[in-house]
Amino acid sequence: MNELKGLILSGGKGTRLRPITHTSAKQLVPVANKPVLFYGIEAMVAAGITEIGIIIAPETGDEIRECAGDGSKFGAKITYIPQAEPLGLAHAVLTAEDFIGDAPFVMYLGDNLLREGIVTLTEAFKTNAPDALILLTKVPDPEHYGVAELSDGKVVALAEKPAEPKTDLALVGVYMFTSTIFDAARAIEPSARGELEITDAIQYLVDRGKNVEPHLVDGWWKDTGRLEDMLQANRLVLEDLETRVEGMLDAGSSIEGRVVIEPGAELVRTVVRGPAVIGAGAKLTDAYIGPYTAIDERVVVERAEIEYSIVLADSRISDLGARMEASLIGKHSKIDRTNGMPRTFRLLVGDNCDISLV
Ligand code: G1P
Repeated sequence: MNELKGLILSGGKGTRLRPITHTSAKQLVPVANKPVLFYGIEAMVAAGITEIGIIIAPETGDEIRECAGDGSKFGAKITYIPQAEPLGLAHAVLTAEDFIGDAPFVMYLGDNLLREGIVTLTEAFKTNAPDALILLTKVPDPEHYGVAELSDGKVVALAEKPAEPKTDLALVGVYMFTSTIFDAARAIEPSARGELEITDAIQYLVDRGKNVEPHLVDGWWKDTGRLEDMLQANRLVLEDLETRVEGMLDAGSSIEGRVVIEPGAELVRTVVRGPAVIGAGAKLTDAYIGPYTAIDERVVVERAEIEYSIVLADSRISDLGARMEASLIGKHSKIDRTNGMPRTFRLLVGDNCDISLV
């Protein structure tokens, strides 16, 4: 088999993560202080794939280019492939046809995270040489995913987000293809949501007797499309954290459990109970940071308690009257409390925000 190429899909509008995605690509939201997209790139490089194409959308493409660069920081060569309109995953595949050529390739949805990476899967793909290899995992809500039906370990039918799923086996957003997928993507019709579905293209291969090899995922998998998934992905990644303290703690501060404190971070009379990560240049004073929390670079927290949350760079949180949890705070946000009269809430809230007060 020829060298595998990589294709990462990093377009889409990220509507389920608004308002964060009004100003930033969903693939760049950090999990444990690292953009989701980087986990996919690193998984490919770990599997020996260094020729990587990234599909980008007009709205967020520049930001993605700026963040991932030419790929040299990952040991890869990245080619950016603009997709003018989000017309579906199979359409994205067709957009990448010149880049892929006749190489076999791994397609990775840029908002997906796979704990075990893809090394054993690319090995199986190379050894067994099927026409396509798909990943499946059992989920409690299959209606939100592509769903597979198997018989005797073989794929017999696939359906994209069926109202009444026949099984609980969801298609994970990592696929391996040979160039037969291009003909399939050209042959199918748009779905009810007006997209060329990769699920339908794979079904086309199955219908023509092609060998589509299913693999069940070992370890966890997360599609980080929604807030609750993002928080869970953050928790799962932080669970594997190794303690590393490079910032400064005063005598009144302490850390418990697995905690990373990046260089230049400063803790004053603050308790961090891991797993948690505190980004470079963050300043925490009279604060409590609880388990499964990622505090990004230069965040300031004063007289506040935060748990099971993600706080993006340059935000400032002070004097909360209650512990904040299960929250995602965007970049440059400011949350505080004033003691003046009248005792009112004063909010400057963007579109599609979601705020729960005690
Ligand atoms: C896409 C695919 C779906 C797959 C999912 C995995 O859905 O269409 O088959 O199960 O990714 O993340 P999307 O999240 O783009 O709606």
